[in-house]
Amino acid sequence: MKIFTEGDYEHMSMMAANVVAPYICSGMTIGLATGSTPIGLYGELVKKCRANKIDFSRIKTINLDEYVGLDKDSKQSYRYFMDSFLFDLVNIDKRNTFIPNGNGDLDKECKRYDELIERYPIDLQILGIGHNGHIGFNEPSDSFSKNTHVVELTKSTMDANSRFFTGEKMPEKAITMGIAQIFSAKSIILLVNGESKADIIREALLGPITPRVPASILQLHEDLTVIGDMAALKYV
Ligand code: GLP
Repeated sequence: MKIFTEGDYEHMSMMAANVVAPYICSGMTIGLATGSTPIGLYGELVKKCRANKIDFSRIKTINLDEYVGLDKDSKQSYRYFMDSFLFDLVNIDKRNTFIPNGNGDLDKECKRYDELIERYPIDLQILGIGHNGHIGFNEPSDSFSKNTHVVELTKSTMDANSRFFTGEKMPEKAITMGIAQIFSAKSIILLVNGESKADIIREALLGPITPRVPASILQLHEDLTVIGDMAALKYV
């Protein structure tokens, strides 16, 4: 495991962009995350693209998760998030960007997503972490999940993410890649910032490996890079 502790969110985002850029230039398949943490990274990648330093035209992206039951055009959907923070701002071919569809036949969608990940193995997976240690939307549980599946969101996740849902009811379910699929990425970058993540990041990186803290499985990955600010990484 490599750990980069940067002074603040801006520098951690710049560092993350420098690590991710070569994967983009070489046309790899990149697993993408949402949440507030990677927004700075996406901003830095947009800057590099506008400066003609990186070219998104050959990459494929596979997002971790999506809420169940949101309207296709909902501003709270992860498709909308990805379009507005990255895809609409760079020269990516949107036909090469994949996000689970949280509407319609969910069993079929889970199968479609599993096949997609098999067809396009993930070279680099970008992750954030929830306050309860979730990655993607894999909530604490009795076992590590394997494939794409539908989850009931926990109270901790509902409380943390409800800030994004003003005037719209927050969904109680989501569709997410499984832990084994995340783990199968050749390389993983875990991004973390802010004091409020310090305890969970210590548990995830230094505590026992347990599905009660889903991110703890990352301790076993052979190419994990953690990039964070001093507040989040103060205990590791
Ligand atoms: C959501 C996403 C996760 C993300 C988490 C943390 O639950 N499904 O992929 O890591 O939020 O969000 P934030 O970065 O806003 O703390």
